[in-house]
Amino acid sequence: MNICVIGAGYVGLVTGACLAEVGHKVTCCDIDQTKLNSLEKGRIPFFEPDLEELVIKNLRKKNISFSSNLVQSIENAVLILIAVGTPSSDNGTADISKVEEVAREIGSLLSSYKVIAIKSTVPVGTCAKIEDLIKTNLKSNCQFDVISNPEFLREGSAISDMFNADRIIIGSESSWAANIAKEVYLPFGRPILLTKRESAELIKYASNSFLATKISFINEMADFCEKVDCDIEDVAAGMGMDSRIGGRFLKAGIGFGGSCFPKDLKALLKAGEQIGCGFNIINSALAVNSAQKMLPIKKLKNILGTLENKLISLWGLSFKPNTDDIREAPALDIIEELLKEGARIIAYDPIAMTKVKNIYPDRVVFAKDCYESAVNSQGIIIITEWDEFRNIDFNRIKQSMKMPVIIDGRNLLDRHRLKNMGFLYSGIGRGTML
Ligand code: UGA
Repeated sequence: MNICVIGAGYVGLVTGACLAEVGHKVTCCDIDQTKLNSLEKGRIPFFEPDLEELVIKNLRKKNISFSSNLVQSIENAVLILIAVGTPSSDNGTADISKVEEVAREIGSLLSSYKVIAIKSTVPVGTCAKIEDLIKTNLKSNCQFDVISNPEFLREGSAISDMFNADRIIIGSESSWAANIAKEVYLPFGRPILLTKRESAELIKYASNSFLATKISFINEMADFCEKVDCDIEDVAAGMGMDSRIGGRFLKAGIGFGGSCFPKDLKALLKAGEQIGCGFNIINSALAVNSAQKMLPIKKLKNILGTLENKLISLWGLSFKPNTDDIREAPALDIIEELLKEGARIIAYDPIAMTKVKNIYPDRVVFAKDCYESAVNSQGIIIITEWDEFRNIDFNRIKQSMKMPVIIDGRNLLDRHRLKNMGFLYSGIGRGTML
């Protein structure tokens, strides 16, 4: 089928590449010509495992193309996917102005029946709003349907998430449109759930809120573990064996970040507030998360006393491994707080350093690897669980540090081994011992 994806950002590009891979003819449209020029050459403007290979392969097969010509791309398409950003506005609500802008444009260009699917994360009721907006901008008297088709991809594993999706959600008022969308996704062989549009829109927010709550729950439990000498890793493993609970997203750490969880939880809270629905649990999940991000600093101060003028080494800056994304990354809050405490910071991340350098060109020093970052430092905080941190020569690290302190914010390392080596090691929720 001919598909037009509007917005060649993270969601649009991954979705477009995967749809092309299963045999559809996909045109990804964007207003950023520089981005389109590099995409045409198979160059991806952000880091996502396997995406570049997939795009290059499908460029060669002519299953994917990039264009700024919306007129022609829409004209040829059966399905139009809207995948533009919906960032937080100043008051926490989702800013859907880009989706609205696209809708106006689609309205003015439609000349035959199309299914228009909203992939962007949008508040309940947006599909209906967008339908009205397209209608008021129509230049010809043609039919169309607006459906909700939220995405559930995770950064860093987006391609495999798309091919192994737990579910594909299609929210539609029209069975004709739902059938077209179903046909598009059929080659993936994944379960499809048909719902009404508003329910589909909420499934996305409810899912992200539930996952984030699961993380805050386990982090709060980790805090209790430290006070009563339990190990959160064992507690989570035991809980996860109950199939009603499930083991995923029960990894204690220094909190969730990224461009989705914080933004979506705030937007749902705001939407609830507007209609008198309190969402106490979601509120608490966010509050627990804010406190959690400061935990490594609390732990460092317990060991080192003041942090004034102490050199602290940060390992990992991205909000999670396998991505260079630093949006709402706990690392940024930790850097801010360390600077307030008067600490000196040296940081290392395999791929996210350039982005952090742009924010802190002078106040943070960047190292070429973990070894360089450890030299003369009085504490290491592991912020992101990059695989390469597992295979470090910790004898070398210990010898080069001024104080052998490791705060393992992701419970990544073997604490017994490190303690035996003489490190002052503290993970998250792993008993009362340091
Ligand atoms: C999240 C959802 O998982 C996706 O399903 C959704 O499509 C996406 O948001 C979105 O709305 O676009 P993502 O933000 O890419 O995906 O990353 P996750 O893997 O969910 O991780 C989010 C944060 O939670 C990270 O900071 C991670 O370190 C943290 N996390 C995750 C934990 O602290 N513990 C866990 O057990 C799992």
